[in-house]
Amino acid sequence: MKDLRAAADLIAGARRLVVLTGAGMSAESGVPTFRDALTGLWARFDAHELATPEAFERDPALVWGWYEWRRQLVERVEPNAGHEAVARLDCTLITQNVDDLHERAGSRDVVHLHGSLFEPRCSVCAAPAERPAGEPPACVRCGGPVRPGVVWFGEALPAAALEQAVEAAAACDVLITVGTSGLVHPAAEIPQVAARLGGTVIQVNPEPTPLDAVCALNLRGPAAVVLPQIIS
Ligand code: OAD
Repeated sequence: MKDLRAAADLIAGARRLVVLTGAGMSAESGVPTFRDALTGLWARFDAHELATPEAFERDPALVWGWYEWRRQLVERVEPNAGHEAVARLDCTLITQNVDDLHERAGSRDVVHLHGSLFEPRCSVCAAPAERPAGEPPACVRCGGPVRPGVVWFGEALPAAALEQAVEAAAACDVLITVGTSGLVHPAAEIPQVAARLGGTVIQVNPEPTPLDAVCALNLRGPAAVVLPQIIS
């Protein structure tokens, strides 16, 4: 209770505010996190093994199909009260999520560190692709297999997005990290940069994470419950 009030005061008084979100942000909308076991059709796969360039090379139809399943799932769900609270903030919003729930809640200029489910491109010539039929579809320019526009394990993050995120973290006075395990780099370094350069870091997560140590406040609870209580 005391921590919730302290967080609300810090946020209300922030001059340069950054919000960093991960999969837990969308959990209450019904989008499974990466640490959740896959269920149903995908129960025998591991998300971490599907999200690699090697997996796409080995079996493009399988990987394309998995991302199509996730895209369709995201299209059926709605932003939650946490997304709506974040949309009320004047902040730099950085997300590791490939869904569009922040945008659908009304946030603008969202920095997508790990790409998007809605921007497929050719895996050979990088031309943006519409969504033609095929699993995976063929690029209309060069015929190469179209891939999801997301960042896979082992791939570099989009340079401009990463630079914007690090600069915002370095310059902020308050950073809120929400629903991220803090295990995947370089995204996990963003709260550390803020803390090292004098920012106050607030974490919203039901579980402890490796980021606990750099956080001034650790609010243990679900994003959709905690964020509306600390954002007016
Ligand atoms: P993870 O799936 O690694 O972690 C989800 C975090 O959300 C965990 O720390 C949970 O405790 C927390 N969580 C679960 N439910 C929550 C809730 N209702 N409210 C708040 N937090 C909750 O997701 P990320 O940290 O986003 O990358 O993972 C980072 C990246 O690893 C992803 O972007 C993806 C991934 O595998 C790529 O695909 C490259």
